[in-house]
Amino acid sequence: MTDDCAFEAAAIIRERKPGFVPRLGLILGSGLGVLAEQLSDAVSVRFDELPGFPVSTVHGHAGELVLGTVCGLPVACLKGRAHFYEGYGMGVMTGPVRTLKLLGCETLLVTNAAGSLRREADAGSLVAVTDHINLLPGTPMVGPNDERFGPRFFSLSNAYDRELLGLLKASAQASGIQLHEGVYAACPGPNFETAAEIRMMSILGADLVGMSLVPEVIAARHCGLKVLAVSVVTNLAEGLGTADLSHEQTLKYAALGAKDLIALLRVFLADLAGRPANLAAH
Ligand code: HPA
Repeated sequence: MTDDCAFEAAAIIRERKPGFVPRLGLILGSGLGVLAEQLSDAVSVRFDELPGFPVSTVHGHAGELVLGTVCGLPVACLKGRAHFYEGYGMGVMTGPVRTLKLLGCETLLVTNAAGSLRREADAGSLVAVTDHINLLPGTPMVGPNDERFGPRFFSLSNAYDRELLGLLKASAQASGIQLHEGVYAACPGPNFETAAEIRMMSILGADLVGMSLVPEVIAARHCGLKVLAVSVVTNLAEGLGTADLSHEQTLKYAALGAKDLIALLRVFLADLAGRPANLAAH
């Protein structure tokens, strides 16, 4: 995409809700869009109205941006994301992420469905992502660099913001919700992995496997957004469980985990709303 798209998209969004400045961008993964229904004074913009926003073809990914306030915090929700496997390439989420930055967001909170490589984090569990392993064929910042958003070379240390993670863990403890932590391995999909691939990822240090997250996190770190990511486990990864993996199963268990995730995020977002904007330096 041309990076001017993000400026055009931000201008369209500002017109729809004048004066509204979101502090946090939320990406809602498979079956997790229900969170967007909790926003007050909500205004929606369809992705197909926004330049640079890829329209997802996957059932369970609605494809709209919802602006509103939740627990006192102004947020912009991407309800439904598009994926590498849909054919959009590694820059699939760069436009939406940059648009969130231009709208004023300081933080990107990403949710997704994932398979678990750890039996103790079975279907329905929540796992905060502490780091990732990129097994996708490339990265989103390849090509000419747009200096308006970030530098040519940039670090992925602290990609998953430790300070925000600490706040999320405190929120989990306060609300009695179990929150695991783990490393996310991003695979291209759309096929689920083989059992041998999962064994390899386990040796490499992965705790979770999924088909998203990494393109948006790299785009977010490039433009200086702080990132927090929580996966809802929808299945034990191939070879570890007995269930046949399917998208239906993903949606079913994402809905189950979404209950805990919403409860956790409500406590976390209320905490964030009470803090100054520049909570942590990036
Ligand atoms: N593998 C990849 N992506 C996934 C899985 C999985 O097992 N479960 C949910 N998303």
